[in-house]
Amino acid sequence: VTDQIKEQLAGLIRDVPDFPAPGVLFKDITPLIASPGGLAKAVEAMVRLSPSEVDTVLGVEARGFVFASPVALSLGAGFVPARKPGKLPAEIIETEYELEYGTERLAIHADALKEGDRVLVVDDVLATGGTIGAAVDLVRKAGAELVGITVLVELDHLGGRKRLAHLGVADIAAVL
Ligand code: PRP
Repeated sequence: VTDQIKEQLAGLIRDVPDFPAPGVLFKDITPLIASPGGLAKAVEAMVRLSPSEVDTVLGVEARGFVFASPVALSLGAGFVPARKPGKLPAEIIETEYELEYGTERLAIHADALKEGDRVLVVDDVLATGGTIGAAVDLVRKAGAELVGITVLVELDHLGGRKRLAHLGVADIAAVL
C-alpha cells in the first residue's frame, strides 16, 4: 500500500472530538465509505495486507461489516457477522469485553464457524483492542483457526496491539 493511497484514505477519515463521550476522539469513516474511490481503495488495501488462504471473514457489527463483506468477496471467502446482543436468531456463542466507552457483548451463531476453518477477523478501527479480542475469543470458542486480523485504522496510542499480545494472535495488519 503506497504512501499516496494511505494519505488519500487518511484524508477521508473525519476526527470528531468528544463522541460518543467526552474525551473520546471518534474516527468517522463515513466520508471514506461515501467516496466510491475511497471505499474501493480501502478494501483493496485491506485485502493486500490479508492472508490469501481464508475460508471465512468474521466482521464486527456495525462498521466492521462495511469492510469485512467486500474483503470476503475479494478473497473468495464466506462472511460471518459478529453481532451485539439480541440480534442473532439462532443458537449463539457469546463473549463479553471492555470497550473504550463501556462494556459490550458480542456473539456469532454457534454453527457459523466449523472446527479448523481458516478465519480472518476484519474491523474498521483497532482502538483499545477489546472488540478484536472478543472476536478472537469467538473464533477460538468455535474451534476455528485464526489466520489473521485486518483493520483499516489502528490507534496506536490506545495500546490495542499490546493488549492483544497475550492472546498470541496472528499478525495484526493495519492500513493506517
Ligand atoms: C468501534 C469500532 C470497533 C471498536 C474498536 O465500534 O468499529 O469495532 O469500536 O474499539 P476497541 O478496539 O476499543 O474495542 P463500536 O463499538 O463503536 O460500534 P459500531 O461499529 O456499531 O459503531
